[in-house]
Amino acid sequence: MDKNGYLLEVEDLWVKVESKQVLRGINLRIKKGEIHIIFGPNGSGKTSLLGTIMGLPQYRIIKGEIKFKGESIKNMPSFERARLGIGLTFQHPPSIKGARLENLLKVMGIEEQRIKNLAKRLSLLEHLPREINRGFSGGEVKRSEVLQVYLQQPELVLLDEPESGVDLENIVLISSVIGELLEKNKPIIKRKKSAIVITHTGYILDYLHADKGHVMLNGEIVCSGGPEDVFDKIKKCGYEQCASCLTSSKEK
Ligand SMILES: Nc1ncnc2c1ncn2[C@@H]1O[C@H](COP(=O)(O)OP(=O)(O)OP(=O)(O)O)[C@@H](O)[C@H]1O
Ligand SMILES: [Mg+2]
Repeated sequence: MDKNGYLLEVEDLWVKVESKQVLRGINLRIKKGEIHIIFGPNGSGKTSLLGTIMGLPQYRIIKGEIKFKGESIKNMPSFERARLGIGLTFQHPPSIKGARLENLLKVMGIEEQRIKNLAKRLSLLEHLPREINRGFSGGEVKRSEVLQVYLQQPELVLLDEPESGVDLENIVLISSVIGELLEKNKPIIKRKKSAIVITHTGYILDYLHADKGHVMLNGEIVCSGGPEDVFDKIKKCGYEQCASCLTSSKEK
């Protein structure tokens, strides 16, 4: 934690992928225990923001800073960021030939019975010996991502559309596991984890105590406020109104 209690500080972050400018001056600060939701239309840069925080190599920082617990992480490879306590579930995770899901979890040092218990709850017991995501259905891939991040127990949890493409019953299942991971039943002061969650559907909001909502448009955060308020405004007025909506708080 830095001296002001921020777990994550993103300052004036400009990022390119190939030659495309995907982030344009993002500022975002997250305190310990806070859960932030990011909304925004397709292609607005949401996945790019999470990928840049995780240190995925395709995201090139042109300008700006990313601090985790007060220290700059912007030149650190992803695996070191993971060791420090950052975890990401991918919107579109790769499948990994030759690497079995259960072996990945075991090398993370997780006890076999814990793996089995959660896999059973997520209906993934028979997927454990399979190669990671190979031939998994869309919903199985999402459950497998949630299984991995739950067992990893990162301090900063980055969730990229965890419920998209998942059937209604499994949305309830996934969301309740995520609610537990993010310590839904604890007051913010007692929570040990913080999160950024990207959602289009908003389903997951019923299972979390989210603290702030942000709207991204064209690589910028154009509006921030209470997550339910922001989501209601989007449903009523559409994303394009977010930039000019005077009733929303500009605080980030
Ligand atoms: N390798 C790449 N080369 C060129 N453009 C890219 C590359 N990767 C991403 N982009 C572009 O960057 C922009 C931002 O993409 P990003 O995945 O961050 O959007 P998003 O907000 O997560 O969208 P969605 O809601 O569809 O998931 C898009 O226009 C995308 O096409
Ligand atoms: Mg995305």
